[in-house]
This record gives sequence, C-alpha cells and structure tokens, in this order.
Amino acid sequence: MSLVSAAEQLEREGLERIAAATTREELEAARTALLGRKSGRLTALLGELPKLSPEEKRAAGAALNKAKLLLEGRLGEREAELAAAARSRSAPVDVTMPSRPRWRGAKHPVTLIIEEVEQIFRELGFTVALGPEAETEWYNFTALNFPPDHPAMDMHDTLYLGDDMLLRTHTSPVQIRTLQTYGAPVRIIVPGNVYRRDFFDASHAPMFAQIEGLAVDEGVSFVDLKATLTHFAQQLLGEIRTRFRPSFFPFTEPSAEMDVQCVTCQGSGCATCKGSGWLEILGAGMVHPEVLSASGVDPEQYTGWAFGMGPGRMAMARYGIPDIRALYDSDVRFLQQFAR
Ligand code: PHE
Repeated sequence: MSLVSAAEQLEREGLERIAAATTREELEAARTALLGRKSGRLTALLGELPKLSPEEKRAAGAALNKAKLLLEGRLGEREAELAAAARSRSAPVDVTMPSRPRWRGAKHPVTLIIEEVEQIFRELGFTVALGPEAETEWYNFTALNFPPDHPAMDMHDTLYLGDDMLLRTHTSPVQIRTLQTYGAPVRIIVPGNVYRRDFFDASHAPMFAQIEGLAVDEGVSFVDLKATLTHFAQQLLGEIRTRFRPSFFPFTEPSAEMDVQCVTCQGSGCATCKGSGWLEILGAGMVHPEVLSASGVDPEQYTGWAFGMGPGRMAMARYGIPDIRALYDSDVRFLQQFAR
C-alpha cells in the first residue's frame, strides 16, 4: 500500500474513532493512538518517508499533513462536545421551566358548608353536639312523638339493623340525647350522617348529611326561631330573601319549612328551583311539649325551637351542582375545584 493511501486510511479510521469516543478518557486514548509522538500511527507513517523518492515524498508528505490537521481539528471539536454534554448532565435544571403541578387536598363541599354553618351558630352561642348513627326506635321515633304506626317507621323507608336497632333517619334523636344529658337551657348544632331507603338518583341518596339545631330556654318563641334562621340564611348566602311555609313534623308544633330565593336565577324560575324561584333549605318548628317531657324537661317551664337542614342541598345551591351523586362519587376532578 502506498503511503498516500495509508494516510487516507489513517484519516478515515481516525475520524471514526474520534466520533466513537464518548468520554474524555476514550478521546485521549484515541489522540495517543493516532497522533502520539512516540508510538502513534502518524509517527509510524512519517518514519516511512525517507525511503521514498523525492516526488513520492512530496505527495505522501502532503497527504500525511492533511490527515494530521484534520484529526487534530476533529479531536478539538469532540473535546468541546463532550465537555458541553458533561456540563448539561451535571446541571440539568432549567430554572425558568414551570414546575410540575402539585396535588393539593381539598375539603369536600359538604364539609365546607357544615364548617360554615357551625361557625355562624357558634357566634350565636350554640355548641356542636354529636350522636350515634345506629339508634334505637325510641330515640329515632318514639321520643320524637311519632305515632306507633307512622309510615316513616316502615321497613320500606328505614334501614333496620335488628329488632330495635336502626340507622337514624334524621339527626333529631340527638335533641333527645342532649336534653337527657344536659337538661335545659341548651343551644346545640348537630352535624351528622343519616340514612334512608331511597333510590339513588339525581336528587336522592341513601345516606346524606344533616345539621340539626336546637334551642331550649325559658320564654323562647317562634320569633326567636324566625329571626335566628333568617339571620343564619343571610350570613351563609348573603342578603337573600327568605320565606316560611307551614309544614308538619310529629316533633314540632307549629312546624315550618324555610325557603330561600333561588341562588341560580334570583327568583325568576330555573331548573335548579324547578321553576318556583325558591329553594327549600330546612324544616323547623317549636319543640313539641311531648318531646320535652320524653327528655325529662318540664314543658311548663321551658319552650324551644329546632330545625334540620341538608348541607348537601345547600352545597348544590351554593356551588351550582346539578346532580347530588357528584357529592358521593369521590371524583378528584370534581373535588379539586373546592381546593382553596
Ligand atoms: N328531622 C326533620 C327531617 O329530617 C327535620 C326537622 C328537624 C324538622 C327539626 C323540624 C325540626 O326532615
């Protein structure tokens, strides 16, 4: 092989080897093997020059010089490339890049309403009380003046756990338990879950939250009930119109239901209020004398008023939630919207 083609071969193979080097060490080894002064391939080829004729010497000299310059240039470039890659590996942080979103916990909309309701009543001197979800017939119905054949006691409406145990159908049994334990006067607010054998559709759930309220003292009248609940509605929903309609509950007399002007349409009528312009938010009334007697409180000395409301319905009205099942699905995309 002529020295010229040997120079060309050195050039080709040298470029390949430089390109294949992925570390500084590999690149230095390539430099030594190719251009090393003592035992490099270029040095070996230069050693052949004296054996050639003057013409061959000129051609071969030029070819070897070209190979040397090319390889030296390429070694320098590759060295810069490897240094840049090492730098980007050791400092891969682009501080201008937006960070990955963090999941933040959010309170459930029903919890948000319960906390707000508790706070409004705490400021009026009420205390939070709790009671068991598994109740006896006596606490859930009898002591609350339900007649023995009342349809609510039917297996059809109530989830029974045994002969005399059931899942409470409302938070009202806590009225009895609290009056038995503390007597009068008393002012309590009772959040809790209740159970009914309902179909699970857009507006009914077999388990839902309720908030009970009870105020018993001397000289308490319907005026206190109406003023307190109107104040409450305006604290929770802003300057909103309210109305009381007569109603019936076995444990209150007289009884009423309170409506607020529909928060979606401001009263003109829409799908949320089924065209009526009003949303029912609670049932209330003056505590029936039989209920006070059953709890050991003298109805000649004390009177009281009570209410029960559904925070789920309030959450739906407040946040414009069209289907009650959204409150029970635990879909994080829904719940995330309440993070604050
Ligand atoms: N317990 C009633 C219900 O579940 C609500 C209520 C409570 C009404 C207290 C009057 C007084 O529907």
